[in-house]
Amino acid sequence: MKKNIKNNVYWVGKNDWEIRNYQSYEYSTRRGTSYNSYLIQEEKTVLIDTVLRPFSAEFVKTLAKNVDLLSIDYIICTHSEPDHSGALPDLMSLIPNVPIYCTEDGKKSLLGNYHQDWNFRTVKSGEKLSLGNGKELIFFEIPLNYWPDNMFCYLTQDHILFSNGIFGQHLCTELLFNDLVDQCELNSETIKYYANIMQPIGKLITKKIDDFLKKNLQVDMICPSHGVIWRDNPLQVITKYLMWGNNYHENQITIIYDTVYSGTYTIAQNIAKGIHSADERINIKLFNASKNDKNDMITEVFRSKGVLVGSPCLNQGILGSVSIFLEMIRGFKFSKKAAVFGCYGWKDTSIKIMETKLKEAGFDIVMEPISFNWFLTDEALDTSTNYGWLFYDILSRSE
Ligand SMILES: [Fe+2]
Repeated sequence: MKKNIKNNVYWVGKNDWEIRNYQSYEYSTRRGTSYNSYLIQEEKTVLIDTVLRPFSAEFVKTLAKNVDLLSIDYIICTHSEPDHSGALPDLMSLIPNVPIYCTEDGKKSLLGNYHQDWNFRTVKSGEKLSLGNGKELIFFEIPLNYWPDNMFCYLTQDHILFSNGIFGQHLCTELLFNDLVDQCELNSETIKYYANIMQPIGKLITKKIDDFLKKNLQVDMICPSHGVIWRDNPLQVITKYLMWGNNYHENQITIIYDTVYSGTYTIAQNIAKGIHSADERINIKLFNASKNDKNDMITEVFRSKGVLVGSPCLNQGILGSVSIFLEMIRGFKFSKKAAVFGCYGWKDTSIKIMETKLKEAGFDIVMEPISFNWFLTDEALDTSTNYGWLFYDILSRSE
């Protein structure tokens, strides 16, 4: 379906209501997602990005109903991952000579993935493409660690920023615009997307946004590649990104654990009790890693100023759910304070493993761990409560 978003600019993407996991099981998409593609019909006709490969035939068929494919003058590929470039092979088989504008790394990736020597036009930051009627697209390279091919493009006069993944969410809606959707859902999905996808490269993204803002371009609308179009106060999401990229935390401590016979769970509860005794207003959240969505837990860790992780020992290691969580955040560079806890029967092996993994993820281990042998005594419960109090105290002193 073609939906007008402003003047001669249209959304021609695909809403995916069914998807519940993205990139295998790395990201839960409980509210679906969208693959946003945009069509600009000025004197020149431009298509910006496409959709995920399985929707390719449907996308091309629908696009052909809305525009004569032979009238497309330019294709812009702001990011070459298959969820945005997946329809290019089908589309290019019909219009093989249409130039594809992308970055040098974008060309490398498209060539590598699709093995077709399309009519690539590589662009650098500041280069412009005239669309007629006095309008231009301006390109900005936004190379990121694992998205070196990324770029923004900006439509003059309409003041629209096409931002690719940045400022997006995995949120499916027929309402299209940020002011029309449920704001709680939007906020929740936007911070989840940032915490899970952008946070590991948050500082770099902040720098790139700063560089873009220095151009002093008016931004009336932001069109990302997933989720809603920001037309109501689009600067709100830019402000959020700048805030989130600057050692963000709320007044929250998160406890992630798993438990076999309730020992580690009981320690977690008593640690929470200790923290609460130190500060009644701090938001303490407990998540059993085997019962909670890992992306939700990462989001809560992102919102926290301190994190405690607990697991009993099993097979000389830690429980699988905690292990998966720690592996997921290994590259996240969380500069937050942390401590670990656990319990054991015959051999105390879990503590060292959790500490090592947290350090790898960027955490600062601020306390010696606590780990209890056999079932918990009253003394162990008191020690756990005191541990929570001390953890809170250390966090408060460092603020
Ligand atoms: Fe994407």
